[in-house]
Amino acid sequence: MSDPVNSTELYPFGADYLYFCTKAAELTGINLHNYKGKQMYRRLVNYMNRRNIPDFATFALRLQRDPDELSRFVDYLTINVSEFFRNREHWEVLAEKVVPLLVDQAKWRIRVWSAGSAAGQETYSAAITFAERSLNDVFVLGTDIDEMSLSKARAGKYTASEAKNVPQHLLDKYFRKEDDLYVVKDSIRQIVSFRRHDLLSSEYPGNMDLIICRNVLIYFSEQSKRDVITRLSASLRSGGVLFMGATEAIFNAKDYDLTQIFPFFYRRTL
Ligand SMILES: C[S@@+](CC[C@H](N)C(=O)[O-])C[C@H]1O[C@@H](n2cnc3c(N)ncnc32)[C@H](O)[C@@H]1O
Repeated sequence: MSDPVNSTELYPFGADYLYFCTKAAELTGINLHNYKGKQMYRRLVNYMNRRNIPDFATFALRLQRDPDELSRFVDYLTINVSEFFRNREHWEVLAEKVVPLLVDQAKWRIRVWSAGSAAGQETYSAAITFAERSLNDVFVLGTDIDEMSLSKARAGKYTASEAKNVPQHLLDKYFRKEDDLYVVKDSIRQIVSFRRHDLLSSEYPGNMDLIICRNVLIYFSEQSKRDVITRLSASLRSGGVLFMGATEAIFNAKDYDLTQIFPFFYRRTL
């Protein structure tokens, strides 16, 4: 992980920005230095402009004094946009090629981890994919740094627009209607669990058959990205598979003891 004090990437942004990062880390537990420097700085300045916050010192003070501002800020910071079956063609590869592979090798309960699960769309998509394709016992863990996203994930309730990517037959089979909302049925909820986990600082679970980590690392600095991929790979069992986002190909997979088996799918070789 990059050292904030020695990070040359951050100095152009000034001492007030460094002070803000220190305060933000104290208040949110999120270390901004692990994210792409310029992109993060731009996002914060946009946020301040939108909320009429004149400078970083005032921003830090507001976060400290106002719990609503703090939770709004964490929500903004974590960019928790998601969809069910995001990039459908990759989920088809998962269902048709990868799941059979994992099921063939499974000796016991299949363990799946959706890391950076946002409001649960990816986690439930994975659970539904396994429910459709496998008779095996499956457990799907969804983790995220953002508590607000996790609460929504646990509730498992989605508007029609949020659920629009779920094919109709899966919507009928795995969701029930409650007023205008689609609610994930118990058959899926009972194989899914959500908890808070920071990919940059928490301990990683081990022995995973499949890890889905999509559209999370794009916001991280190069060094953090490398650290996280190393740790994700170590969390896979031998032969386990890492499923990455549509813009997140790993070019030097061998360095992480991974080998590409399909575009955006990497298998642990050790
Ligand atoms: C753009 S969403 C992607 C959601 C989902 N994986 C997908 O592809 O649709 C990024 C998620 O990563 C989470 N995130 C950001 N930094 C994180 C960190 N350090 N550890 C764990 N999750 C993080 C955010 O809270 C957000 O929910």
